[in-house]
Amino acid sequence: MQYNPLLPEVREDPYPYYAELRRNHPVYPLGEQGAVAVSRYEDVAFVLRNHEHFSSAAMGSLAGSGEMLIGSDPPGHTRLRSLVNRAFTPAMVAALEPRIREVAAELLDRAGSPGEIELVSELANPLPVTIIAEILGVDPALRDDFKRWSHSTVSGSPGSRTASDDERSRVSKDRQEFSDYFRRAIEERRREPREDLISALVRAEDEEHALTADEVLAFTQLLLIAGNETTTNLIGNMVLALLEHPEQLQRVMDDRSLIPNTVEEALRYDSPVQFLFRVAAHDVELAGTTIKQGTAVLPLYASANRDERKFPDPDRFDVTRNTQGHLAFGYGIHFCLGAPLARLEAKVALEELLNRCPRLARKSANVDRLDSIFLRGLKQLPLTFDTANSSAS
Ligand code: HEM
Repeated sequence: MQYNPLLPEVREDPYPYYAELRRNHPVYPLGEQGAVAVSRYEDVAFVLRNHEHFSSAAMGSLAGSGEMLIGSDPPGHTRLRSLVNRAFTPAMVAALEPRIREVAAELLDRAGSPGEIELVSELANPLPVTIIAEILGVDPALRDDFKRWSHSTVSGSPGSRTASDDERSRVSKDRQEFSDYFRRAIEERRREPREDLISALVRAEDEEHALTADEVLAFTQLLLIAGNETTTNLIGNMVLALLEHPEQLQRVMDDRSLIPNTVEEALRYDSPVQFLFRVAAHDVELAGTTIKQGTAVLPLYASANRDERKFPDPDRFDVTRNTQGHLAFGYGIHFCLGAPLARLEAKVALEELLNRCPRLARKSANVDRLDSIFLRGLKQLPLTFDTANSSAS
């Protein structure tokens, strides 16, 4: 067996590869660069917990340029995280539920021809982008530009292959527009604060250990990258898993209070972020292997979430399972800042979908997967449903 996340067959179904890694190669060398993949639950948790051994500096390139929350280590990380935590609170997220529901309902009402919906482009993608644009306070007239900029910001990340020169120059133009727009917005909010996240971040700028304008800009970009495609993929993977397990879908239909745990099980079963990157800060011993200083390390969150030592019968999709401790949002100091928002959006999206689209079914047996090495999701998921009673809310 050869595990290589670049191979199409691995991308198609990585789970048998992960099982073999956990069984026989818990610290697996990847190619000639000397990177290693870590696959067992305990070891992935060890890597994430011990940030002094496994630095996040390797992640800087993921999110564009500059000092980024996700690519920083303490003490820089501690300072940035405490400032953005203040602006991005669970209470603020919880208050968004009615608006998220309204947007989800509008998107579903507007979707395609009667009795048909393309889940990704008509719900799973626009929902998180619309909500984050509103949270940031983007001018409603510029929402379509914002979607284009955010798509380009995301499509420049490693693993997605930005093909031609034309496309590359379009992406860099979009990124420039994005950054010009937000620099202006930051200036405006500084003169005249509003009730939005940028204003809250700018307020944090004025306090001690303040955020700089560059940091506010870097953070808005990170929110896009970290928060959009991931949530889109969670919604797509979750609906696909339910349709592939009709008895589980039936349980959820019969008891909607299972929806929050269905979201957690989908995160565990088919994790939108399969792995990220660390670099060994010095020689570290793990699962009997010495990882040399400077080695790139891939903690395989998605494999940890299928580890039989942690989750009994891990390949079974079970909406009633105890999912506690799954690592789909990471663990430790970099634990996903947007987890409450992602959970809420996925919950509301599934509730509205089940309410408005009875007898959901796949239009085609093909699964059209995203072209990325570390994100797992669908390019599209065309569905059919029953139109009788479909307007009930
Ligand atoms: C299902 C959706 C999502 C998944 C699976 C996900 C996954 C993750 C993971 C695994 C990490 C840890 C990174 C690490 O270990 O280095 C992370 C960090 C982060 N996520 Fe998410 N995320 C999701 C949605 C969001 C949303 C909606 C936002 C914001 C709007 C967001 C913002 C962030 C930020 C800012 C960090 C960096 C935190 C830090 O470094 O301290 N994420 N996410």
